[in-house]
Amino acid sequence: MQGAPKEMVMGEVYKVPTAWSRDSLCNLADYQRLYRQSLEDSDTFWREQAKTLKWDKLPTRIKNVSFVDPVSIKWFEDGELNVSVNCVDRHLKDRADQVAIIWESDDPGVDRKITYRELHEKVCRLANVLKDQGIKAGDCVTIYLPMIPEAAYAMLACARIGAMHSVVFGGFSPDSLADRIDDSGAKLVITADAGVRGGKHVPLKANADAALKRTTQQPRLLVFNHAGTAVEMVSGRDFDATDLMAEASPFCEPVAFNAEQPLFILYTSGSTGKPKGVLHTSGGYLLYASMTHRYVFDYQDGDIYWCTADVGWVTGHSYIVYGPLANGATTLMFEGIPSYPTISRFWEVIDKHKVSIFYTAPTAIRALMQQGDDPVRRTSRQSLRLLGSVGEPINPEAWRWYYRVVGDERCPIVDTWWQTETGGILITPLPGATDLKPGSATLPFFGVDPAIVDGEGRELAGVTEGNLIIRDSWPGQMRTVFGDHERFVQTYFSTFKGAYFTGDGARRDEDGYYWITGRVDDVINVSGHRLGTAEIESALVAHEAVSEAAVVGFPHDLKGQGIFCYVTLQKGIEPAEALRKELVAWVRREIGPIATPDIIQWAPSLPKTRSGKIMRRILRKIAANEFDNLGDVTTLAEPAVVEELITERRTF
Ligand code: WTA
Repeated sequence: MQGAPKEMVMGEVYKVPTAWSRDSLCNLADYQRLYRQSLEDSDTFWREQAKTLKWDKLPTRIKNVSFVDPVSIKWFEDGELNVSVNCVDRHLKDRADQVAIIWESDDPGVDRKITYRELHEKVCRLANVLKDQGIKAGDCVTIYLPMIPEAAYAMLACARIGAMHSVVFGGFSPDSLADRIDDSGAKLVITADAGVRGGKHVPLKANADAALKRTTQQPRLLVFNHAGTAVEMVSGRDFDATDLMAEASPFCEPVAFNAEQPLFILYTSGSTGKPKGVLHTSGGYLLYASMTHRYVFDYQDGDIYWCTADVGWVTGHSYIVYGPLANGATTLMFEGIPSYPTISRFWEVIDKHKVSIFYTAPTAIRALMQQGDDPVRRTSRQSLRLLGSVGEPINPEAWRWYYRVVGDERCPIVDTWWQTETGGILITPLPGATDLKPGSATLPFFGVDPAIVDGEGRELAGVTEGNLIIRDSWPGQMRTVFGDHERFVQTYFSTFKGAYFTGDGARRDEDGYYWITGRVDDVINVSGHRLGTAEIESALVAHEAVSEAAVVGFPHDLKGQGIFCYVTLQKGIEPAEALRKELVAWVRREIGPIATPDIIQWAPSLPKTRSGKIMRRILRKIAANEFDNLGDVTTLAEPAVVEELITERRTF
């Protein structure tokens, strides 16, 4: 199994503080009662919860789901609502002047506060611009923006007019952007001149220009001027977004859409092939995102909430934009990085804006932990009351540091397990209800019915370890792979019939707590970023010097997993340091900096079965420097290959 924390302490328990059990939204008794109801009488439970949204037409049909042929997932299917009204308009009555978004720029001297009233105006103006550009309900708009409030305006403006957005992370290369534009059939791309991270510019507009040179789709470009850099505007194709918004009307009458109206596509990596477009719809997704945000983070009026993810990932969608705004929260959006201008930046931002709830990734925690306690201790952090973790298993050592140093042993930590596909958090502590164990995501959220199965799909009871499945649907579940329902069925519902297969392994302990052990498929998790080994392999073999490549994850102290590439060169081409560097740069350019290989090992050939299948299990062991226990090697076509790879691996 990949990515399992090195150490899993089972005996260490952090009890719910008495004040939390008294004052939070949900204590243990509430959790147990509501959880039981959510499974035993699911329609009643979700019908009641649905009332927390503003519907134009309240749903009467709650759930209509089949996990077997034909796989079909619908929630609240006769309900109608507008997602942007839920995130903006409905708060105008009581909290028009409350800050909706705090924007903290890369430059510590610059920030901006956007109230719900302003948010409404911006979203309306941009929605009108989209309409003027001919965007209609059901169309797709690609959003390729830095971490600026305009990203939230753009998402909500799409939602307002029933268009789907496809946010592409600003760190992706022009090629990756081009693939996503073509796959989604985007009619429009919203971008900025450049993003700013750690004092450096990320040339988004130039990347978009490069992408559009190779797409079949020829969308128009709306460009925000953010960093003040000069860009070339193609006449008739590119438009200044700020100018158009200034000219547009500040009112845009919202239209009610069906609960199953597509809200967004988000591309994510799988075991095979190109990234797939995960499709989420409106009513169920929004309900699930807002409800989990409220309960998991115990969000209450007056809280200042900060999730450090990028809006290019699902965490940014659900827990920077949709969940918090649906709850009328104040959500902080940070453009920069944790180490700029100093390694105290996160904590300084917390003090500056009096952040009370802080949600980040283990990879950031580990990197900051490495710098020692001083950069944290020199800040106050008195405003903090709750900490969260997401994206990969958190090793207990990092958990304890987060708890002791960042939270001053005062703040519970919610270790939240979920996926792009799940729309929101599925396994997590609730801070007023759940005793914590470092390294465990603990217990399922309301309506989530997990189980552990063996390789044949047999359910394993009690204390056990195996593959994690979810037996029944929850409202935030993805509905399909955009344009490829068969791939959806194959990927998630064919391994274990009648259940959703997560792709993760898990252990369950004597208290029924879940411990996620990492991916059991060919997906790797690098600094909390999800990558398919197949994508990196196809980038490598696209290089003329490469004949074959196999990519696996290996344990990495900071990143959780690193990228290990075995590369077989074309006949006649000799391994060389310069070529190694070139291949690293090549992959960065093809996919983006997040896919930068950590290690390239030359492989005269790869270990294969007699039928020609690469034996990745063995490659993973070698990459991890575990040579003693390679498992069954009797099916190897040429056992000598393994010896060669081990000998080479020992040299570095
Ligand atoms: C991993 C991110 C352990 C897991 C929200 C999952 C985690 C993949 C945790 C999804 C956690 C996420 N503990 N592992 N708390 N959270 N993962 O789609 O392997 O980018 O399948 O969604 O991240 O990554 P994705």
